[in-house]
Amino acid sequence: MSKNLKFEALSKRKIMSSILIKNIKQLIGIATAEELKSAFYGARISKLETIENAYLWLVDGKIKSFGTMQDELALKLDLPNTTLILDASGRIVLPGYVDSHTHLVFAATREKEFCDRIKGLSYEEIAARGGGILNSARRMKEASEAQLLESAWIRLQEVIRQGTTAIEIKSGYGLDVENELKMLRVIRRLKEISPISIKTTLLAGHAYPMEYRENHEGFLKIVEEALIPNVAREGLAEYIDVFCEKGFFSVEETARIMDAGAKFGMKSKIHANQLHHSGGIEIGVAKGAISVDHCECVGEAEISALKGSATLPTLLPGAAFFLGIGYQPGRRMIDAGLPIVLASDYNPGSCPSGNMNFVMSLACTQMKLTPAEALHASTINGAHALELGQQMGAICEGYAANVLITEPMEDYSVIPYSFGTNRIEKVIVNGKLL
Ligand code: NIG
Ligand code: FE
Repeated sequence: MSKNLKFEALSKRKIMSSILIKNIKQLIGIATAEELKSAFYGARISKLETIENAYLWLVDGKIKSFGTMQDELALKLDLPNTTLILDASGRIVLPGYVDSHTHLVFAATREKEFCDRIKGLSYEEIAARGGGILNSARRMKEASEAQLLESAWIRLQEVIRQGTTAIEIKSGYGLDVENELKMLRVIRRLKEISPISIKTTLLAGHAYPMEYRENHEGFLKIVEEALIPNVAREGLAEYIDVFCEKGFFSVEETARIMDAGAKFGMKSKIHANQLHHSGGIEIGVAKGAISVDHCECVGEAEISALKGSATLPTLLPGAAFFLGIGYQPGRRMIDAGLPIVLASDYNPGSCPSGNMNFVMSLACTQMKLTPAEALHASTINGAHALELGQQMGAICEGYAANVLITEPMEDYSVIPYSFGTNRIEKVIVNGKLL
């Protein structure tokens, strides 16, 4: 072994990280590797596995072991002397949130439209006048990569403090090749500096730019022949997305963009059924999308299309809250046996918040999910919606040490109960206390 290699091996040994969390009031979100092979649904999504008066030991970024405090004493854990010991008396420890749908990179807020909606305009009316996504696209063109990176970095740190430990970020405000590439490069840079995992989605069909409103074919050609190949060449995105909605992209146009992405190995996660029964869910399922997201407009037809498919329905109640439209029928979907996911949809138009604690509050109060169901939908099911479900999203030996420690509280249900308040006191990502 060369001198250098020896030194590396030594220094690696030295930086072996170890955190022992003791006296945990409730350790929640526990599961076996076998159970974690798929997203939770049926009885499993409703049943929260918990250990009271527990310990959790994290070594080198992974969950090493956990059990009761009596186990901890009996096992005489071989703790390295560098171990950080945290006393979680009176506190809850849970897996970090996996937010599988966001538009975290954007150039400007849209409070003017917020005020217009209060006065009676709808989201669709604002969009039809050239506001909405087109408004964000104009601001995107003016913004530099450095400005976008700085504001997105602040938002990312904010959501991490609120408990998000893995996230998906979409492009979609570029609306042309140059600006989409700009957005995606910002996300790539965020990935390099972020303490949490980031998955990137090319939102290739978000809205037709004004000059293509009457020329959809022209826009779709650019997407197929220039945008997707360029993004693929630079390896900038894992997934492809389309806003399948009346006034945006039709079912046929959505299918075409999904196919174009698939040719370059991009699996799809699409915006579906936010404002209408648009057929988005059905086409998503038919084309094997990983997830169909939004799902405000879901009835029997959509539920039966989803039933038995591998496509995960992702509900974004923050957008329904902010736009003042009807919520997703989450209770009915769980009762129908669907593995629902919860995500934030953090974006400047329909949900300027990435607070997953509040998403869980909405799921409980508005959709009648139990806190246990909301938690599974925000952790392990979110992880599956990003193909990370075998690595994170639950308390399981060998899983990523992404865990949250709350303020002192009586029971974990205080988290969604405390709407609008962040009860997360400590965030640990890959075994590091942030
Ligand atoms: O998920 N619905 C489409 N896209 C975003 C909103 C985009 C915007 O208004 O800026 C969403 O709600
Ligand atoms: Fe969205």
